[in-house]
Amino acid sequence: MQVLVTGGAGYIGSHIVEVLLDAGYDVIVFDNLSTGHRQAVAPKAMFVHGDLRQIGQVEDLFAAHEFAGIFHFASYILVPESMQKPWMYLRDNVVASANLLEVATRHGVGRFILSSTANLFDDPQRIPISEEEHVIPGSPYGESKAIAERQLLWMERIHGLKYCALRYFNAAGAHPNGHIGEDHPVETHLIPIVLQVALGQRDHITINGTDYDTPDGTCIRDYIHVLDLASAHVGAFESLADGPSRNYNLGTGRGYSVQEVVETARKVTGHAIPVQIGERRAGDLPALVADNTRIKQELGWEPEFAELGAIIETAWKWHQSHPRGFNG
Ligand code: UFG
Repeated sequence: MQVLVTGGAGYIGSHIVEVLLDAGYDVIVFDNLSTGHRQAVAPKAMFVHGDLRQIGQVEDLFAAHEFAGIFHFASYILVPESMQKPWMYLRDNVVASANLLEVATRHGVGRFILSSTANLFDDPQRIPISEEEHVIPGSPYGESKAIAERQLLWMERIHGLKYCALRYFNAAGAHPNGHIGEDHPVETHLIPIVLQVALGQRDHITINGTDYDTPDGTCIRDYIHVLDLASAHVGAFESLADGPSRNYNLGTGRGYSVQEVVETARKVTGHAIPVQIGERRAGDLPALVADNTRIKQELGWEPEFAELGAIIETAWKWHQSHPRGFNG
């Protein structure tokens, strides 16, 4: 069965590509390489260089291939960047998903998996956050994903497209095969930055605010291993063959503060990892932890990497073997 993975050269997309190939799918990756890496794409996948914002390129792709389903990852993904450059998100991300859905529905594609986000929940009434929580995006990034979810809703009503939006909490870790891991052009994510300190590439990590309403004053996040994300994508895709469209919140269900992440990384790496205290970062929410009951019950999904230490260990292996990422 042939599937399309947009953004398959990126961090999360490249891991899903490997898991799809292992499950026996034929995979075509479509990526503009603006933040992804050609080397991250498994050799068994076909690679097409292109940009979803150019609808002509999307039409050419669908004219050349027949897809049973789509996994859509290609987008800008950074909460803080979206607070500084909102139109990269409110225009580019929205146009990309609109073009993809317009052409996909014209070609009768039946199943669609959206990479969505926990940044939909700016003001959660209950932690952990269930699918019943009101969607109030916390940034232009979250808003762009909320719009993509709404686009899907209408494509289902009008064209019968089956979809699943997976709202992930904080993706982390690397493939234990050692070939792929996290490598962003400008690193803003906590775990890679902490590990760059352990590698001696940075002097310290700056903690973005210690005055949040959390037990140690630093932000709490639910870190989920990228392979656990991947297995949920495959499960969700397969369930759409005879099940309804739906949304799932996707995390381990356990939150760790920034301070706890640093302490765990100290244990894993044996490095002191000095910290400095900085200001709050615009767009950050105090606590984001998933209630993963629904996906566990409906898909039988379970995270294999339940402990933060085990997740950081896989990331540490990747950073040690690829200290300059894919290009080093
Ligand atoms: N942080 C620091 N210092 C740093 C980097 C990060 O204190 O040098 C803090 C952040 O302020 C935040 C926490 O660590 O409180 C996690 O930050 P990340 O940048 O690693 O991740 P985010 O929670 O901002 O965002 C990630 C993805 C988004 C997704 C979100 C969902 O980048 O795409 O998780 O929770 F929407």
